[in-house]
Amino acid sequence: MVQNNLQFEIQGVALLDIAKKFGTPLYVYDGQKILDQVALLKQAFNTVDLRIKYATKALSNLNILKLMRKSGAGVDAVSIEEVHLCLHAGYQPEEIMYTPNCVAFDEIQQAVKLGVMINIDNIPMLEHFGTYYGQEIPICIRLNPHILAGGNAKISVGHIDSKFGISVLQLKHVLKIVEAYQLNVTGLHIHTGSDILDATVFLKGAEIVFDAAREFKDLQFLDFGGGFKVGYKPGDVTTDIMDVGQKVSEAFKAFCEEYGRNLELWFEPGKFLVSEAGYLLVKANVVKSTPASTFVGVDSGLNHLIRPMMYDAYHGVVNLSQTEGPERVYTIVGYICETDTIAADRKLKEIKEGDVLAIKNAGAYGFSMSSNYNSRLRPAEVLVLDGKAHLIRERESFEDILRHQVDIGL
Ligand code: LLP
Repeated sequence: MVQNNLQFEIQGVALLDIAKKFGTPLYVYDGQKILDQVALLKQAFNTVDLRIKYATKALSNLNILKLMRKSGAGVDAVSIEEVHLCLHAGYQPEEIMYTPNCVAFDEIQQAVKLGVMINIDNIPMLEHFGTYYGQEIPICIRLNPHILAGGNAKISVGHIDSKFGISVLQLKHVLKIVEAYQLNVTGLHIHTGSDILDATVFLKGAEIVFDAAREFKDLQFLDFGGGFKVGYKPGDVTTDIMDVGQKVSEAFKAFCEEYGRNLELWFEPGKFLVSEAGYLLVKANVVKSTPASTFVGVDSGLNHLIRPMMYDAYHGVVNLSQTEGPERVYTIVGYICETDTIAADRKLKEIKEGDVLAIKNAGAYGFSMSSNYNSRLRPAEVLVLDGKAHLIRERESFEDILRHQVDIGL
């Protein structure tokens, strides 16, 4: 989003005009920003055989998946439904990495039938897999590297108390199973967490994967997950992707040389690719002062963007309707009937009833984590591409609230 003197715009299209045309609350995505992020990642890793597996869960609209595919990115799917969605978007099965956790074996069998790459997250599943398929189907193994990293405890998943993956300390056990069933392990995977700043965390993770990889003879790829940190707050330090690219690529090439084969290097970014591209546009319904604060109540809330309440996440806010004049301090709150703070104590251009606000960094884990709480409708979604705003999801209607409810005639 850039500000020309009078208005905020994406690719020359004023966000206010988009809000006027499609209404609020509204998710708007800048397709060019997504393409730029993919290009940046490719550039950072241009000395290795990089494969991007976009984390579908971050933003799973079909059109976003299609845009990713056009940009040359594959996908990471964490449920059989996401696998179907990616296939529906035109992905070939071999472009899809399926990384479930805590699913029943029959879901894994469905994924095998669909022909996607299976990432196994626990030892019992590895044994089931061996029993059913032996060496017939190639697999990846998800290791838990025991690294504590991430922006918030809820999104740090590579540590010892986490449910994810198979502990690296259980590698011996894994190897016995691989040997016993003659499993065809073609990849190893880790995902340490989300909002990881530092190249050293990725390097540490990579070293742990390399150590494990030495024990497997037929690897084709190593997958280092997602987690690159994007800037949410002004002045936030973000992952220096060129630095990570350079350092991890060097270490990776040295490992490949030792291993005796050029492997593919996989990453599964979500936030890095789509967070900054997304805005949630909302309308100020009420401006209300209390002894402690001036609240702005908007036509949205934690049902549409749960990150502030769930992770104490900071999202920048801009008053699109007022680009000049004085600022005041506001707390932006949602219309949900419980504490529902979107942004506390922010200096913003004076807000009047009816003004449209943009909540920034709403591309990742925004719409995809939205709900119908309070029986509210979920927003529409718009994608701006080549200077045009396209509706990519219709606003819900009251019928959607009733859909699937069974009236037993009481
Ligand atoms: N790969 C795996 C296996 C993952 O579990 C995740 C995220 C990613 C890749 C992508 O991570 P990213 O690059 O987006 O950080 N809802 C939370 C984030 C949860 C992340 C879950 N896994 C949030 O809004 O901060």
